[in-house]
Amino acid sequence: MPEVQTPSRQAFKEAWNATCSAAGDNPTLLLPQGKTFLLKPITFKGPCKSPSIHIQVSGDVAGPSNLLEWNQAAVWLDFHYVDNLTIDGTGRIGGQGSIWWDCHTNRDPAMSFAFCNGLVLSGFQLFDNPKKHIHTFKCDGAVISHLTITAPKESPNTDGINIAESTGVQIYNCTIGTANSILYQYTTGDDCISLLNGTSNVNISYITCGPGHGISVGSLGRDGTVGIIVEQIHVSYSSFIGTMTGARIKTWQGGSGYVREISFKDIILDKVKIPIDIDQFYPNLINQDDQHIQVSDVSFIGVHGTATSPTAIVLKCTRPEGCTNITLNDVNITSADPGKNVEAYCQEVHGASTNCTPKVPCLG
Ligand SMILES: *[C@@H]1O[C@H](CO)[C@@H](O)[C@H](O)[C@H]1NC(C)=O
Ligand SMILES: *[C@@H]1O[C@H](CO)[C@@H](O)[C@H](O)[C@H]1NC(C)=O
Ligand SMILES: *[C@@H]1O[C@H](CO)[C@@H](O)[C@H](O)[C@H]1NC(C)=O
Ligand SMILES: *[C@@H]1O[C@H](CO)[C@@H](O)[C@H](O)[C@H]1NC(C)=O
Ligand SMILES: *[C@@H]1O[C@H](CO)[C@@H](O)[C@H](O)[C@H]1NC(C)=O
Ligand SMILES: *[C@@H]1O[C@H](CO)[C@@H](O)[C@H](O)[C@H]1NC(C)=O
Ligand SMILES: *[C@@H]1O[C@H](CO)[C@@H](O)[C@H](O)[C@H]1NC(C)=O
Repeated sequence: MPEVQTPSRQAFKEAWNATCSAAGDNPTLLLPQGKTFLLKPITFKGPCKSPSIHIQVSGDVAGPSNLLEWNQAAVWLDFHYVDNLTIDGTGRIGGQGSIWWDCHTNRDPAMSFAFCNGLVLSGFQLFDNPKKHIHTFKCDGAVISHLTITAPKESPNTDGINIAESTGVQIYNCTIGTANSILYQYTTGDDCISLLNGTSNVNISYITCGPGHGISVGSLGRDGTVGIIVEQIHVSYSSFIGTMTGARIKTWQGGSGYVREISFKDIILDKVKIPIDIDQFYPNLINQDDQHIQVSDVSFIGVHGTATSPTAIVLKCTRPEGCTNITLNDVNITSADPGKNVEAYCQEVHGASTNCTPKVPCLG
């Protein structure tokens, strides 16, 4: 069990190399408790010799506080081609991102996992990272649980967890509070969780999200990207606290493909600006009947709590077919401002609603 000392990129490289080339059963790279490891951007590359690899984060990991030590383009902790990688423990991983927020640069994610099937992330805390916290690409069967992810309210684009081109993913029992600044609301994100292209069969439950932009499918179809597919995304038993949006699907005009079989079930809201939002005109309405990503088979079941804007439900779809088979059932959203009413806005939406407050005019 190699032990890494502070300060430590070279030591990490050697320890990773030793762990990845160890033949034994589930070799472990241990970051011992009571230590802080100062790490410059680093790549952890597989494939490894053992069928599974373990990184135990009991100590803390910090990014460089000096801008010059960050490579402009680099992901901070970059994992590639490592199958059956488990990273767990109760340590804290903090990128010292505030030096970046001030210069508004578009930073790559703090922790990036590409081609890491069977990834397990559990237990640790991620905080104040330069941009997105966790990004996965082609990580089938990933299980992400018991993480705490936080960034201050003012930080731009600090998405919590992005999932791209991955199938069979579970995310549960995480607390995610990311950025919520109005200044950045139409940039790439600030979502607690976002599900991106090529993602299917994802179950998300017991998430506490806020502040931030909620749990989003998308955005998808930017710059006319074609062949977008996101399906079978199921979010349940989650709460949104002081978020800008809650349950959200956002697609750009000009893209093509589909989003289908999406459900949000048993959702609690506390002062959410727009709790339910489907927007085929993201980031804003361009009045054109261009090609678009089809949205169908979406349900919102058991959504309760308060909204801060007068329009609590926004379902904004595009011709010719609009969004189809959209269901709302047992939805009760009231104004966070006692005595005020909330309403729903909809265009080109087809489906049904039952026991829904406010009433959705298109759905009868
Ligand atoms: C990685 O480990 C292998 C085998 O133990 C060794 O030959 C190689 O020099 C090491 N590379 C680095 C960068 O430490
Ligand atoms: C990952 O684990 C699964 C299940 O234990 C196993 O079938 C697979 O071969 C492992 N992957 C690698 C690359 O060893
Ligand atoms: C998600 O939940 C559905 C329904 O319970 C189940 O069939 C599916 O296997 C689950 N997927 C994952 C990745 O756990
Ligand atoms: C997830 O959180 C819920 C609600 O707090 C709890 O009932 C459940 O046991 C937790 N699941 C795990 C696997 O920790
Ligand atoms: C979307 O994801 C699918 C499935 O992984 C992939 O084949 C396709 O190339 C992706 N499209 C874009 C525009 O990235
Ligand atoms: C509508 O969507 C639901 C899932 O939300 C699905 O079970 C049902 O089969 C769909 N109905 C039609 C007519 O496609
Ligand atoms: C909706 O929730 C409010 C606030 O909790 C409650 O007073 C009201 O009776 C509920 N309406 C329905 C139709 O359940």
